Amino acid sequence: MKQKVLKLLTEQEGYVSGQEISRNLSVSRTAVWKGINALRQEGYEIESVTRKGYRLISKPDSISEVEIRRYLKEGILPGRIVVLPVVDSTNEEAKRAYESGYPDRSLFVSDQQTAGKGRRGRKWISPKGQDIFFSFLLKPDLPPECASMLTLLAAIAGVKALERQAAEEYRIKWPNDIVLHGKKICGILTEMGADMDSVHYIIPGIGFNLNRRDMDSSIQEMASSVFLETGKIIDRARFVADYVSEFMSRYDIFLKAQNLAPFLEDYQHYLVNVGREVKVIRKGRELVRTALGINDRGELLVRDDQGNTEVIFSGEVSVRGLYGYV
Ligand code: BTN
Repeated sequence: MKQKVLKLLTEQEGYVSGQEISRNLSVSRTAVWKGINALRQEGYEIESVTRKGYRLISKPDSISEVEIRRYLKEGILPGRIVVLPVVDSTNEEAKRAYESGYPDRSLFVSDQQTAGKGRRGRKWISPKGQDIFFSFLLKPDLPPECASMLTLLAAIAGVKALERQAAEEYRIKWPNDIVLHGKKICGILTEMGADMDSVHYIIPGIGFNLNRRDMDSSIQEMASSVFLETGKIIDRARFVADYVSEFMSRYDIFLKAQNLAPFLEDYQHYLVNVGREVKVIRKGRELVRTALGINDRGELLVRDDQGNTEVIFSGEVSVRGLYGYV
């Protein structure tokens, strides 16, 4: 209800009368009034003037389900959207939600994480009110070996969503870090619950450094935020909606293809490693190879100095540039 009221208020310049809203939505005046109050409680400033009606003055700088849905095409995310001011980790929240029977394609978004998780057991620094952290709960009919491909898809969606609000030269560092000016601004951690041949859930969890004004000294060398690199402030609710649209439209294609063939061109376009020397760190040993691109399973193709091509699987190695992070 409050979503529909908000939509009317934002579409209209100037005042909208309570009568108009109630007619438009076919609900009682009391229901309209309740909707207005619910929005006010979420931080929307709504003026009400006798005989003129209601006018939206300002919206909160918070992320809420209403704000996200406002920018989402109906039906694109059939599951639920849960927005939490603070959580340990949105991936953990999605796992708990799986246990309590939440539907497929639900989204868990948070403004702050107290135990944000990175890849390889690292932590993901997740301060309040500046960046964005979210995870999807997906229950696809896919063989377990397809799960890691989804992280590459999640990275493409990330670049596309970023481009909508701040057009810059984003790049993907294989398999799924998004970098800007050589520094990491987004990380993806995909977790899966499966048995030998069937997937119970896949949870891609994505963290974007968006509006952060200073980076922790421990990561300053290799990480940054969109704001620090461009001076642009990202509207976070709109960003989440953009991301959901970019991800979901590709996810449906991926479920049919069960590989990354439909996305190869896009991915290769953004892949920062192509033609560059990379250090392949395998079981503590470092090998220098030239990156060529990926195959349709999302594995990295590299060439050694004898011209032999090898396939690198993401779970197996960590890839670094020769002279730094990229
Ligand atoms: C990486 O190490 O690059 C992966 C970082 C993934 C961070 C995101 S933030 C949202 C989701 N919840 C988590 O605890 N981690 C992921």
